[in-house]
Amino acid sequence: MEARDKLDRIAAGYQDAFIMLTSLRLGVFDALAGGTRTPAALAAELGLDARALDTVLHALAAVGILVKDGEGFRLDPDCGPLLASDSPTTMASIYRHHDRLSRRWMRLEETLRTGEPVPREAAVREPREHRDYICGMENISRSSSRDVAAAIDFSAARRLLDVGGGPGTASLVFAAANPALRCVVFDLPETTAIARGQIAASGLADRVTAVDGDFHVDGFGDGFDVVYVSNIIHMLTPDDTAMIARKAHAALVPGGRLMFKDFYLDDTRTAPAHAARFSVNMLVGTAGGQSYTLTEAKAIMAAAGFGGFTEAPVGGRSLVVVGTRS
Ligand SMILES: C[S@@+](CC[C@H](N)C(=O)[O-])C[C@H]1O[C@@H](n2cnc3c(N)ncnc32)[C@H](O)[C@@H]1O
Repeated sequence: MEARDKLDRIAAGYQDAFIMLTSLRLGVFDALAGGTRTPAALAAELGLDARALDTVLHALAAVGILVKDGEGFRLDPDCGPLLASDSPTTMASIYRHHDRLSRRWMRLEETLRTGEPVPREAAVREPREHRDYICGMENISRSSSRDVAAAIDFSAARRLLDVGGGPGTASLVFAAANPALRCVVFDLPETTAIARGQIAASGLADRVTAVDGDFHVDGFGDGFDVVYVSNIIHMLTPDDTAMIARKAHAALVPGGRLMFKDFYLDDTRTAPAHAARFSVNMLVGTAGGQSYTLTEAKAIMAAAGFGGFTEAPVGGRSLVVVGTRS
């Protein structure tokens, strides 16, 4: 029965995901953040079919995302703060990103036939798609950046470059924890526009700045004590990852440190399962991205002139590997 249970769970796994992600997309959780609603009232508020919504609300309660209270439904107290868009602990942006990713995953067959990533949807990108992706990075990097700040001694560092730093989450966490540290978030203009908003709101704008740059094209400058590269190499081919390591080497002072944070596979490439699965996400989404093994990441760093490797587990599923410029 164990094999049967495992396969049944995998085969039907999309059903719970679709129930949750579609409800999120249609505003069910934000509406329920305002309090208990009956299916009829919620359907009227959201412009949905009452019978259909009633069925979905019961299914959400069945998996513990909602609680049924008489004729009404409310958010489960543990899930609510993670699902409501304006909660300080929200994960709504990254879940909306998963919702969009699912459309690519449904075309995995094409990638298996062609070896190419699934083409972007023919439709124009939705306006909030990039914001959800980048703010989704904030959702997941919030706690892992705190783990990095706790695991790694930045006290002697004065300048840190956050390559592909997204909304600037890591830079803001590191700067808050290290009063002598100045951080530069290097990212594409579409993203630095979002990072600048986060920086302005943080009160750390005197020590955290954002610069527009394309790591395929631009150099990283020089004089940095740390180059931090989080959740970037999985988007890149080994050659491009090596290019990032070489640019980091040129940007660092002697004794400076390069940090690659990512989901790493072990040498069998079959574990951990989340990293093997994430590699498929990169297969459908990027031309040449993948989950790397820790051995591969260190070899790329070593070839660029880094040594004395240390590593620390962070954020539950990630690992940051640190190499020192020799
Ligand atoms: C997966 S996110 C990681 C964000 C952040 N480092 C983190 O860990 O939360 C990838 C980031 O790489 C940026 N990016 C993608 N291509 C880039 C390029 N060619 N040059 C600079 N940044 C790029 C994206 O804008 C995005 O912010």
